[in-house]
Amino acid sequence: MERKLVILGAQWGDEGKGKIVDLLSEGYDLVVRYQGGSNAGHTVIANGQKLILHLLPTGILHPHVKGVIAQGMVVDPEVLLQEIEELERKGIDLRGRLIISERAHLVLPYHKVLDRLFERSKGIGTTLRGIGPAYMFKVGRKGIRLSDLRNPVRLRDQIEEGIDFVKNLCEKVFEEPFELSADQVFDSLLSSYERIRCYVGDASGEILSCGGRILFEGAQGTMLDVDMGTYPFVTSSNSSSLGLANGTGVSPKFFADAYFLGVAKAYTTRVGGGPFPTELTGKEGERLRDLGGEYGSTTGRPRRCGWLDLVALKYAKEVNQLDGFIITKLDVLDTFEEIKVCVAYDIEGERIYSVPASLTDLERAKPVYETLPGWKESTKGISDPARLPQRARDYISFIEDFTGAPVIMLSTGPKREEYLWLREMPTSRASCS
Ligand code: GDP
Ligand code: IMO
Ligand code: MG
Repeated sequence: MERKLVILGAQWGDEGKGKIVDLLSEGYDLVVRYQGGSNAGHTVIANGQKLILHLLPTGILHPHVKGVIAQGMVVDPEVLLQEIEELERKGIDLRGRLIISERAHLVLPYHKVLDRLFERSKGIGTTLRGIGPAYMFKVGRKGIRLSDLRNPVRLRDQIEEGIDFVKNLCEKVFEEPFELSADQVFDSLLSSYERIRCYVGDASGEILSCGGRILFEGAQGTMLDVDMGTYPFVTSSNSSSLGLANGTGVSPKFFADAYFLGVAKAYTTRVGGGPFPTELTGKEGERLRDLGGEYGSTTGRPRRCGWLDLVALKYAKEVNQLDGFIITKLDVLDTFEEIKVCVAYDIEGERIYSVPASLTDLERAKPVYETLPGWKESTKGISDPARLPQRARDYISFIEDFTGAPVIMLSTGPKREEYLWLREMPTSRASCS
């Protein structure tokens, strides 16, 4: 196992990162979430139990793993507490093994109010978890960080300032009543803080001083990255590898010897609005949704489904400089007679082989497909590469040839043990121990 492993979504989120991080965490000492917030929903099915983690690093389910919520995340203290309590009820004790950065910004109730209002006029299809507004406050220098909770007098003023700003917008621009009071927000924040203060500390220091193996758990996916994704239909953080340094508070130099893996479904899904060139809106899309159980882990919304977009996948390989892919949900394609993959976009008669920056171009992009034969055999739960049907193998080879990156692992079902290695992760990188 690599000493530093980065797991990133290579599509539009929900690629199965939670399942993969959970199973790989076994071999790691520290697991770090470093961007996004409770918009994420990472599903783990292990020991007959299903858990969906939104804020806590997925690796924390292993008792030997320490978890870090680094400074680039936006933390909703109420969601965090609920999550900690849910794990406690299941007998998972986090004391002494969770570190939340004192520099992380908070998601507060008025951010969620703003998220709802912006959605009404703009319609990105956000998760309504207050993520965009919390990051807006951060870069607009109106945010509140966990370290601010140590000074209640100043905190009261900061909340007042935030409330006034949102109240004005709400009442004067959106002509909506605004009902939150600074006292309400202040009291509930301090009461949550009492329960989480024992976890607050120096997250970057924890990463830098870790002598063991570290896994970095990306949330969302490359195509939702605020800079590299399908802007403005993106999330508000750098959910590609670009978010690693600012999200952890650790220099890019630190990641020079890390191993980068992109997780991608064997097809494509997206939840929320925005361009999706390979989307299938008819019966085939419904078939993928039904077979894949494609409903959002955070919001329950039906996910939009379509064929594998290799142009986007190759783009993700380049943006993130991926060393390889992990392909999930292969089993969902088991019954298809034929499987299509998008190998180019047709934009007004011109063939394009990369993801255009312009929203207008992306919206007009028509997929150019190649059709591959389905394997029509069950791969569900297989963990022995010898049992992989030849045509499934060919499908994987096609992905490798097109993207220029090896597929290291396949996931063949939602459960922890349903996977197989196709290749070993190279352990010979010069500077890795
Ligand atoms: P994440 O956000 O990337 O962690 O992905 P989600 O947890 O939101 O969504 C992935 C969904 O696919 C979850 O319901 C998983 O339980 C499920 N899943 C993950 N891997 C596989 C797989 O290989 N096969 C099948 N059938 N389901 C999978
Ligand atoms: P995980 O980590 C899939 C999408 C939303 C919306 C856009 C902006 O589980 O893969 P936001 O609430 O972030 O402002 O919404 O981003 N989105 C996700 N889609 N998986 C996620 O996380 C997502 N987090 C946000 O649906 O289109
Ligand atoms: Mg998810």
